[in-house]
Amino acid sequence: MSSTTQSHASLVEFGQKHVTKGLGRVVEAVITKGQGSYVTLGDGREMLDFTCGIGVTNFGHCHPKISKAAADQCMSLVHGQCSIGFHGPYLELIQKLLPMMPHPSLDSFFFWNSGSEAIEASIKMARTFTGRQNIITMQGAYHGRTYGAMAVTKSKTIYSEGTNPLMPGVFTLPFPYWHQLGLPADTPSEKLSEMCLHQLSLLLSQATAPTDTAAIIVETVLGEGGYVPTPPAFLRGLREVCDKHGIMLIIDEVQCGYGRTGKHYAIEYSGVRPDIMITAKGLANGFPLSGVISSKGLTDKLKPGSMGGTYAGNAVACAAAVASAEVMKEENILENVNARSKELFAALNALRANPKVAPVILDVRGQGLMVAVEFASPVGTGPYDAFRDASAPAKLASRVAKKCVEKGLLILTTSVYEVIRFIPALNISQADLAKGCAIFAEAVEEVVKEG
Ligand SMILES: Cc1ncc(COP(=O)(O)O)c(C=O)c1O
Repeated sequence: MSSTTQSHASLVEFGQKHVTKGLGRVVEAVITKGQGSYVTLGDGREMLDFTCGIGVTNFGHCHPKISKAAADQCMSLVHGQCSIGFHGPYLELIQKLLPMMPHPSLDSFFFWNSGSEAIEASIKMARTFTGRQNIITMQGAYHGRTYGAMAVTKSKTIYSEGTNPLMPGVFTLPFPYWHQLGLPADTPSEKLSEMCLHQLSLLLSQATAPTDTAAIIVETVLGEGGYVPTPPAFLRGLREVCDKHGIMLIIDEVQCGYGRTGKHYAIEYSGVRPDIMITAKGLANGFPLSGVISSKGLTDKLKPGSMGGTYAGNAVACAAAVASAEVMKEENILENVNARSKELFAALNALRANPKVAPVILDVRGQGLMVAVEFASPVGTGPYDAFRDASAPAKLASRVAKKCVEKGLLILTTSVYEVIRFIPALNISQADLAKGCAIFAEAVEEVVKEG
């Protein structure tokens, strides 16, 4: 049965019946086409896409060069299994990525399919490298939905609710995010960092001895936890503690990496050296591919056969990633990110200055094209939430996102707070960015007016 012979409504109904209820969806629709910053839905609607499939189609949907590279690769070698031999696109991709690494010590690569798998690999590697078990993760972190990744995920209970026990040996550190710490949004990031680094020294003397601690894992920009850039001072503090105690610093750049923040990797802003870095999402512009990158001195400790995976580093995905790396350079993607970022911040700050909506906007933050607006909430996260505001309209973020969809813009919320995130394509045009910002502003005004 071809989907083209069935009505859109009947296909949606079929999906609702037979696709697991465990999936949430922004639109009850079939996505039939993607082109640049736009997707087409089965009912004919053309949507401006500020989700990029959650930060994946970063060079635009079906970028001609990238899609062609994948199609060509399909005609020569689809599956060159990584435990059988090398394949060309795998090696070529490493050649492309090496000059983009935030530190020259990152010279040993393993490619897998998803971010979660790469996180699993990083935990296994850190335990092997140190001979220790415990992992310190951040309050508000998101690292994935497989068991190890779920254990170090602390952004929402939905990801693990009812499915414990998770991987043992995980300890949670407060993260320098004003809302989680109950401090005003304009608290200097150095102060927040200092508080959390103090908590880290307590954790290492009260809960997990340094000699039992294999790794500290941190996103360079907290993603599913609210789009909060990790302060450089905090990252530098983590590096110092790791150096002092021989702990591995795992930097998760799954969502914030590969150009998203205006540098190849967001960790470059701090100058901090990761022991292990994870990259995924935008790496192959939609083809499943993740990377676990470390130094040869460390990865030489791994026994051959201890790493692997049937589809790990698939040749078609790697060919798409090689083309993506070329696009990054040829199309001056980082320049576009930085130029569009200024415009995005200007538009959101102008909205914040609008007296009709100003009282409900708590924060505009982010880096590059990974930007968020946080709204006030009448309930907050409970009675002790310092930012509970009884006068704020309820569920602002999800209502604004829904209104944006009605107006032709796909956009996502994030975190347990009322946060909308902006992750447009890294090569979005000035006109499309302005169009999306105008739709968003209109949606906010309307929802606030509705009360
Ligand atoms: C920071 C971060 N780490 C890990 C993951 C997990 O990646 P995946 O969904 O590809 O398993 C995600 C996914 O959103 C992420 O944002």
